[in-house]
Amino acid sequence: MERTFIAVKPDGVQRGLCGEIIKRFERRGFRLVAAKLMRASEEHMKTHYADLKAAPFYAGLCQYMSSGPVFAMVWEGRRVVKLARMMLGETDPAESKPGSVRGDLCVDIGRNVIHGSDTVENAKREIQLWFKADEMLDYASCAQAWLSE
Ligand code: RTP
Ligand code: MG
Repeated sequence: MERTFIAVKPDGVQRGLCGEIIKRFERRGFRLVAAKLMRASEEHMKTHYADLKAAPFYAGLCQYMSSGPVFAMVWEGRRVVKLARMMLGETDPAESKPGSVRGDLCVDIGRNVIHGSDTVENAKREIQLWFKADEMLDYASCAQAWLSE
């Protein structure tokens, strides 16, 4: 089983899209193991997006991400890192296919409503950055037996 870090960004929270996004992950068959609404500091966002430090949009990105509440989640399931990225769509909503979160719910690369870890390794790093171990719940999902052979 894999875990990934998913966050509804401040624009998604303000636009009332948390429920829509949670619904998509639940329907796909993933299991929610942690969730919290939080206001991230700019420092926290700089650490989260450290690999983009050299990008011209880095400062603006970290400001935007700390400008309001973020809904942070950990989702678990088979191949969840890759499948979640496909559910998100491309970084630029204009390149995202209809049916994806960004292809359905937003139009601007700088207000693309959702974050998802891009690799299993980064998922581990991001989960540790955003959640304490005791904030994640281990429980058996009654649907599990019907999701995989
Ligand atoms: P994320 O990390 O937020 O899930 O997005 P991503 O992997 O699809 O894209 P990434 O390259 O990691 O970029 C992080 C976020 O930076 C903003 N961005 N703006 N103005 C621009 O050209 C530009 N490029 C990226 C987006 O909000 C993107 O999600
Ligand atoms: Mg990224």
